[in-house]
Amino acid sequence: MKRYHVTTFGCQMNAHDSERIKGMLESIGLGEAAIPEDADVLVFNTCTIREKPDTRLAAYLGDAGARKRLDPDVVIAVGGCFAEAQRQRIFDLYPFVDVAFGPGSIPHLAEWVGAGGVGVTRGKFGTHEHFAGHLPVHRERRFQAWVQVSMGCNSKCAYCIVPAVRGREQSRRPADIVAEVTNLAADGVSEITLLGQNVNSWGRDLAPDIQTEFGELLRACDAVPGIERIRFTSPHPKDFRPPVISAIAECDSVCEQVHLPLQSGSARILKAMRRTYTPERYLALVDRLRDTIPDLALGTDIIVGFPGESEHDFEQTLDLVEQVRFDSAFTFIYSPRAGTEAAVMPDQVPEEAKHARLERLVEVVQRIAAERNAERIGTVEEVLVEGTSRTDSALVRGRTRRNTMVNFSGTADTGDLVDVLIESATSTTLRGRATSLVAV
Ligand code: 5AD
Ligand code: SF4
Repeated sequence: MKRYHVTTFGCQMNAHDSERIKGMLESIGLGEAAIPEDADVLVFNTCTIREKPDTRLAAYLGDAGARKRLDPDVVIAVGGCFAEAQRQRIFDLYPFVDVAFGPGSIPHLAEWVGAGGVGVTRGKFGTHEHFAGHLPVHRERRFQAWVQVSMGCNSKCAYCIVPAVRGREQSRRPADIVAEVTNLAADGVSEITLLGQNVNSWGRDLAPDIQTEFGELLRACDAVPGIERIRFTSPHPKDFRPPVISAIAECDSVCEQVHLPLQSGSARILKAMRRTYTPERYLALVDRLRDTIPDLALGTDIIVGFPGESEHDFEQTLDLVEQVRFDSAFTFIYSPRAGTEAAVMPDQVPEEAKHARLERLVEVVQRIAAERNAERIGTVEEVLVEGTSRTDSALVRGRTRRNTMVNFSGTADTGDLVDVLIESATSTTLRGRATSLVAV
């Protein structure tokens, strides 16, 4: 039997696409190899959101190319966002690549790789825009699953390559989503994460007879028996409407956790980014979320060094972070992406200034995250067990409903829901001891 290996870069959407890629390859008779060296078919599911994943991919592909020189039968397939962005050049850049495909063409991968990995259609680039919801899937976790609700993005954020590579937004039909969630629950899944580039605009492009909105989808998923936890990522602040907020508050299984990308705290930079909200509107949304959803955990994404960002603009970002007090934040240095509006803007910020700002931002973000986590000490949190602690095998590891990692003493199996008394905290994890197993 031939074997495959998939290397995944990028976001949760890509991680989920990789599960489909694996399921697809297994359906045509390939087995999974634990390491790339043992595989006959090497797949790279790529990301191109910033320059860093592009350079990492180049190193991986360098190794794959060297392997192929020794063993010409090895099949190299490059999928995902980098492949789509470079579709005109991919076979020139990397002549040893056999198959390349965009994120919307996973359903066709089997045709190009060939049954059993034999009969590869070489030099083929595939772009078909399809949902992969009906495809076989190789899930990494028994009790957790991603569910794709839409693909593409209609926003025009000036820095972002995603609309160019993932296309216009298309919502998946509600009945298909709920059917997948129902099947997952029957298969033992208790936690789902709904995925879309902008989940909050989900539903608006559906045919009039099935048109609906994201809050209704949350309610429909909440009604599926066996689903204990529902998360979603990512919403755009501009589309966060009251019905979604009330659905989060009212649905027992929707977790008290929202990832709300801020990007910048400066009105001028937000405008140049084409985010279409002001810091005041963002703050008003945060207030409404916190007023309606008790104990809400808020995460965010922030970019430093967008073209034209002055010291004053950056300080406004720091101020906003202090005001909101996020539980967690992903922080990024602005990375120009060819083909985006911001890449050709004047006043690009020098590299040293971008790095210095990132350092200052990370310091504030981490201090606040540590303070927020310390506020949990003494509370009892419901933890979904994921395995043993990565640093101490005597401890059990899991996540709270607010999506914080917890290591705790006690005995529990993967997939159990356990009440844990929180005893200490860092900026990224909590520590505690089990008080009881939660009856499900
Ligand atoms: N440079 C830096 N960060 C970016 N992001 C998107 N595009 C870029 C870019 N060109 C960040 C945004 C987004 C997250 C997924 O990645 O913060 O929310
Ligand atoms: Fe995900 Fe964007 Fe990277 Fe594509 S480019 S994998 S959508 S983060």
